[in-house]
Amino acid sequence: MLKSVRSVVQLRKFEFNGDKRRLAACGDLKDLRLLAKRNLPGGVFDYFDGAAEDEWSLANNSSAYSKFGLIPKVLRDVSQIDTATTIMGQPVPFPIALSPTGFTRIAHPQGELAVARVAGRNSLPFTLSTLGTRSIEEVAAVATGPLWYQLYVWRDRGLSRELVQRAKAAGYKSIMVTVDTSVFGRRERDVRRGFTLPPKIGLETFIDGIRHPRWTYKFITNEPITFSAVAGRSDVDGSKAINLSDYVNSQFDPTLSWKDLEWIREESGLPIMLKGIQCVEDAKTAASLGVDAIALSNHGGRQLDGAPAPIELLPSVIDAVGDSIEVLVDGGARRGSDVVKACALGARAVIFGRPYLYGLGAAGELGVQWALDHITSGISRTMALIGETSIKNLSSEIIIKR
Ligand code: GLV
Repeated sequence: MLKSVRSVVQLRKFEFNGDKRRLAACGDLKDLRLLAKRNLPGGVFDYFDGAAEDEWSLANNSSAYSKFGLIPKVLRDVSQIDTATTIMGQPVPFPIALSPTGFTRIAHPQGELAVARVAGRNSLPFTLSTLGTRSIEEVAAVATGPLWYQLYVWRDRGLSRELVQRAKAAGYKSIMVTVDTSVFGRRERDVRRGFTLPPKIGLETFIDGIRHPRWTYKFITNEPITFSAVAGRSDVDGSKAINLSDYVNSQFDPTLSWKDLEWIREESGLPIMLKGIQCVEDAKTAASLGVDAIALSNHGGRQLDGAPAPIELLPSVIDAVGDSIEVLVDGGARRGSDVVKACALGARAVIFGRPYLYGLGAAGELGVQWALDHITSGISRTMALIGETSIKNLSSEIIIKR
C-alpha cells in the first residue's frame, strides 16, 4: 500500500529560505503585490501602490491592455525566439527597461542598488530617479547594465546642470526628462495618512511598524533615507521629514518648457528621452525637435487622473510620428503579453516601475528578479503562442481590437 501511495504522492522538498518559498507560491504580479502589501507598513505600500485622485488612470492603464487581443498563428517552428532589440541605440535582450521610482529605499534598505544589480544581471536598462535614495555614483558602482538618469528640473538650474554632469561622468547612457510634473498630483491615500518621507512616527505609524517587525527592524538599523543625489544639502536632501507634494511644488520648476531641452542636451551630450508625453501633438513636437525617444506615460496614474492609458494612445501616436522617434510605453503592463501587444502596436519597448517595486518590497533582490522573470518569460511564451519568432517582426496584424 505504501508503494502505491508513493506512486501517486510525491513529497515536495521543503524550501528553508522563506523569501524563495513565498515567491514560489506567487503566480502573477497580483500575488507579488499582495506579498509586498503584507510585508510593508500601510503608508509605505500605499505610497508606491497609490495614484492620483480617484485612481481611474491607474486602473485604466492596466485594463486598457485587455482591449487589445492577440491573433495566434500555428505550425511555424517557434523553437528559437529572438526577443532582442535596441533602445536609443543600446542593445537589450528584451524590449523592456526599468522606470525611475522615488524613495525606493523605503521598500527595502538596498533600494536602487538592489534594483540596478538585478537589471544589470539581466542586461536591462535601469533608470535612477532624481528622487532616488542612492546616489548617482553609488548606483553606477554596482550596475553592470546600461543606466539612464531621470531628471526633474529644479528651480535651481545650477543643481540640475550639476546632476546631469554627474550622471554623464558616472557613465549613464541617457537622460530621461520627466515632463508631466509641473505640479504634484494629489495622491489621496498619502493625504489621508498624512504621509511624509521618511515616515514620521505617529501612533498609527508606530502600530503599523510593530505589525511589520521585519521592515521596522531594517528601517531603524540602516542608514537614514535621504535624496542621495543632493545629499548634504540639508535644505533639499530630505533629511527632515517632508511632504512630497510640498517638496516637489517648491523645488521643481513649473516654467519648464520645450526650449529647455536645448540646454539639457548640450549639458549632457547624451540621448534624451521625454517621459510623460500624453497626446499626439506633443509626440509630434518632440519628434520635430529631434528628441531621441518619448515614453508615453501618465506617471503610473500619479499625476493627472483621467489622462489616457499609454497603450490606448500608442496607435494614434505611431500613426503621427512613424519611426521618426522611438516610442516607449510606461504604465499598466503586468505581463509579457502586454509587452508583445505594445511592440505590435509600434512601441520600441515597455518600461515599468510598480512591478519591480512589488518585488523589492516582497523579497528584495529575489523579488525584483521574480518580477523580471515573470515579464520576460511571458514575452517569450506569448511570441511562441502567436507563432512569431522575432520581436522586430511584430505588427498590428496580430492585434484584434475588442
Ligand atoms: C515620484 O516621482 C512619485 O511619483 O512619487
